[in-house]
Amino acid sequence: MLLIPILMFLRPCLISAQDIRLVNGTTPSQGRLEVFYDNTWGTVCDDYFDDKDAIVVCRMLRFSENLSKVAVRTEAAYGQGTDPIWLDDVHCDGYETSLFNCPASWRNHNCNHGEDVGVDCDLNQSVSITGNQPVIENSSLSLRCQLSACYSYQCTYSWTSSKAISGNTSQQSLTFENITRDWNTATIYCHVNVTSPSTVIVGSTTMDVQYGPSSATVSVSSPLTVTENTSFPTAITCSSPACNPLCNANWFNGSTKILNTTLFSTPISRYFAGSYICNVSNAVGIWTTQLDVIVNYGPSSATVSVSSPLTVTENTSPPTAITCSSPACSPLCNANWFNGSTKILNTTLFSTPISRYFAGSYICNVSNAVGFWTTQLDVIVNYGPSSAPVSVSSPLTVTENTSPPTAITCSSPACNPLCNANWFNGSTKVLNTTLFSTPISRYFAGSYICNVSNAVGFRITQLDVIVNCRRTEGQVFV
Ligand SMILES: *[C@@H]1O[C@H](CO)[C@@H](O)[C@H](O)[C@H]1NC(C)=O
Ligand SMILES: *[C@@H]1O[C@H](CO)[C@@H](O)[C@H](O)[C@H]1NC(C)=O
Ligand SMILES: *[C@@H]1O[C@H](CO)[C@@H](O)[C@H](O)[C@H]1NC(C)=O
Ligand SMILES: *[C@@H]1O[C@H](CO)[C@@H](O)[C@H](O)[C@H]1NC(C)=O
Ligand SMILES: *[C@@H]1O[C@H](CO)[C@@H](O)[C@H](O)[C@H]1NC(C)=O
Ligand SMILES: *[C@@H]1O[C@H](CO)[C@@H](O)[C@H](O)[C@H]1NC(C)=O
Ligand SMILES: *[C@@H]1O[C@H](CO)[C@@H](O)[C@H](O)[C@H]1NC(C)=O
Ligand SMILES: *[C@@H]1O[C@H](CO)[C@@H](O)[C@H](O)[C@H]1NC(C)=O
Ligand SMILES: *[C@@H]1O[C@H](CO)[C@@H](O)[C@H](O)[C@H]1NC(C)=O
Ligand SMILES: *[C@@H]1O[C@H](CO)[C@@H](O)[C@H](O)[C@H]1NC(C)=O
Ligand SMILES: *[C@@H]1O[C@H](CO)[C@@H](O)[C@H](O)[C@H]1NC(C)=O
Ligand SMILES: *[C@@H]1O[C@H](CO)[C@@H](O)[C@H](O)[C@H]1NC(C)=O
Repeated sequence: MLLIPILMFLRPCLISAQDIRLVNGTTPSQGRLEVFYDNTWGTVCDDYFDDKDAIVVCRMLRFSENLSKVAVRTEAAYGQGTDPIWLDDVHCDGYETSLFNCPASWRNHNCNHGEDVGVDCDLNQSVSITGNQPVIENSSLSLRCQLSACYSYQCTYSWTSSKAISGNTSQQSLTFENITRDWNTATIYCHVNVTSPSTVIVGSTTMDVQYGPSSATVSVSSPLTVTENTSFPTAITCSSPACNPLCNANWFNGSTKILNTTLFSTPISRYFAGSYICNVSNAVGIWTTQLDVIVNYGPSSATVSVSSPLTVTENTSPPTAITCSSPACSPLCNANWFNGSTKILNTTLFSTPISRYFAGSYICNVSNAVGFWTTQLDVIVNYGPSSAPVSVSSPLTVTENTSPPTAITCSSPACNPLCNANWFNGSTKVLNTTLFSTPISRYFAGSYICNVSNAVGFRITQLDVIVNCRRTEGQVFV
């Protein structure tokens, strides 16, 4: 009886983590509680043994002090030990650093080994792997493996993966000095070999190595040349290579984001021509690819600088240069004048002065590989008469009452507009292009004017008519 108080006094000095153990669990953090005393391992009775007692045991063994991870297992859950039964009625308040600081009945018990208590210090024990994940490629990643049981037991660590790991894989920490993107999503296993009992517990983590895009893929090559209003063979898309985290792929038109990974809907208008940017990015990086779009289209007009018909007077200048010009075209249009099928090698139709021979119809032809457009210009050149032809020469001498050799006519040369040709007898217009009807009387002698005119000008030719009197029978000329 005297021994007991002495022992209770002595034990705090003697008992240590090495003097208690958990036996026959499946991991080091659980098992039947045994106490080493007097060179002998003995058990503890489960009477009154609760979580507060268990937490002191776990604290001694340097396991987690998290009460929610600690459990008491009664009735020899981890099997029955052998004598002695060292402790009974343990009543810790939970804050003691040693089991022996707790009130208890040392050596004196009313138990059998069917009441041997067990403790689990780490419910659902697992390997934890911590590290600076996610990590950006080309930087350093350190992983550390930990099994709480290893605070009190000898553990060795080893790392494996489906990819070869360089360096020493038999350390608790694993460092990648320059982690490459091909490690992303790889699974790394940490094997913890605990010695008592000999068990290997495996934990794993999935690598999260972040990297930006290394390209921005456009579905067509640049420059892309298309013809207006025709369809594309395929959608023109901007897409992303593998990225972590996932990249966004966007088209930009200048600084305006196009809310579609497909650039165009068909048909394509000429206004879609330009440069577009396929922009692929995530938080780590960005990549852009430029797509130049050329939209070809033909002319929608052929512009002539004057309206048709153009009426000008010969030998005067046209009001302005008469040009054939092109609207916007892609590729650039050629604008040419045609005179019939002859191309005039100038966009300016005439050089002044304009001769009457320039009258006619001209075609302003505007074309490129896509199409053409024509506009017709009718040119009218007005000019007056250059003569007033009379069918006989002046003076005309005839004998009274005889016919003139031919009809005596006043006629017009070419004129534009047509000339009027008129005989005048003094200021009296003779309403006939033929001057006389035969026979000619003596009273027709005199001077006549052949007058040819139009709006542009006139010409006159004088015809002097001499009528010789004929001696008739019984008549005498004086
Ligand atoms: C204790 O363990 C529980 C269950 O694993 C966990 O939810 C809780 O966060 C832990 N508490 C502390 C303080 O570690
Ligand atoms: C270990 O525990 C099991 C029950 O969990 C028990 O059946 C077995 O006898 C125990 N062995 C020892 C050596 O204690
Ligand atoms: C242990 O695991 C079981 C089953 O998965 C679960 O129901 C229980 O809540 C876990 N306990 C702790 C403390 O994590
Ligand atoms: C990592 O290095 C590679 C090769 O030098 C390079 O292509 C890549 O852009 C780098 N990644 C980052 C996020 O800097
Ligand atoms: C790896 O590290 C462990 C722990 O530091 C050491 O015991 C072992 O000798 C090392 N192995 C090699 C191959 O360097
Ligand atoms: C990291 O690895 C990449 C790919 O092997 C290599 O191109 C780069 O030079 C390395 N960087 C450093 C700092 O070692
Ligand atoms: C654990 O390590 C010990 C000592 O290195 C070794 O003898 C034992 O075979 C290992 N156990 C397992 C399951 O690998
Ligand atoms: C994206 O473009 C496609 C093809 O042009 C079109 O059918 C679709 O409606 C567009 N989606 C949005 C959200 O604009
Ligand atoms: C791009 O911007 C220009 C100028 O604002 C516009 O004319 C064109 O239609 C735009 N293209 C697309 C595909 O939105
Ligand atoms: C394309 O369609 C627009 C609108 O219908 C039209 O104005 C344009 O001339 C067309 N372009 C071609 C080359 O057909
Ligand atoms: C084109 O016409 C203008 C005006 O008539 C003239 O000055 C120029 O020499 C002409 N050029 C050619 C190439 O014929
Ligand atoms: C014009 O003169 C011819 C010949 O003298 C004559 O036959 C004709 O009747 C005349 N016509 C008119 C409209 O006077």
